[in-house]
Amino acid sequence: MKENILLIGFMGVGKGTIARAFAKEYKVYNIDTDDLIESKENKKIPKIFEKFGEEYFRNLEQETANWLEKSVKGTLISCGGGFYKVKNLKKIGKVVYLDAPFDWIYNRLKTAKNAEAKLAKRPLFQDLKKAKALYKERKKEYKKVADLIVDVKDKDEKKILKEIAKFAGVKKS
Ligand code: S3P
Repeated sequence: MKENILLIGFMGVGKGTIARAFAKEYKVYNIDTDDLIESKENKKIPKIFEKFGEEYFRNLEQETANWLEKSVKGTLISCGGGFYKVKNLKKIGKVVYLDAPFDWIYNRLKTAKNAEAKLAKRPLFQDLKKAKALYKERKKEYKKVADLIVDVKDKDEKKILKEIAKFAGVKKS
């Protein structure tokens, strides 16, 4: 894979799951912006929000974006739900938006094996009404920055991977 591929989309849509499956299937490396931030700060995301606030976290996302642009090539990058706002998003790589309705996403989180942990690690998913409003606002913006939109609702994982691979021009080795 020559260029980076960024997976964007709302919290809980399955960016991490798809990224890990893609990496395994197509033998590429995958990194996650939240993981990069957590390891750099040596703190979990909820702690960062709690101690320093959202604005501080957004600055960390921008720093991460700057590093990615400069230092990372040919990698699949799964992005936190708000990462699409960084100034240099399109300079990092091609942007793939994973799209699904809010209720499907919420149900996916709620029925996951470790549902409690999945919700707890997302400070902006604590209040359902607020999360839904954020989804509504974000959806248009995700679509605007996307180079490819993949509808993931009830879609077979292999099919999702194939759509991304075709777009990225990668073949199984
Ligand atoms: C956020 C999404 C989270 C994480 C942070 C903020 C957002 O990532 O970056 O809690 O603004 O949507 P996930 O999309 O992986 O949950």
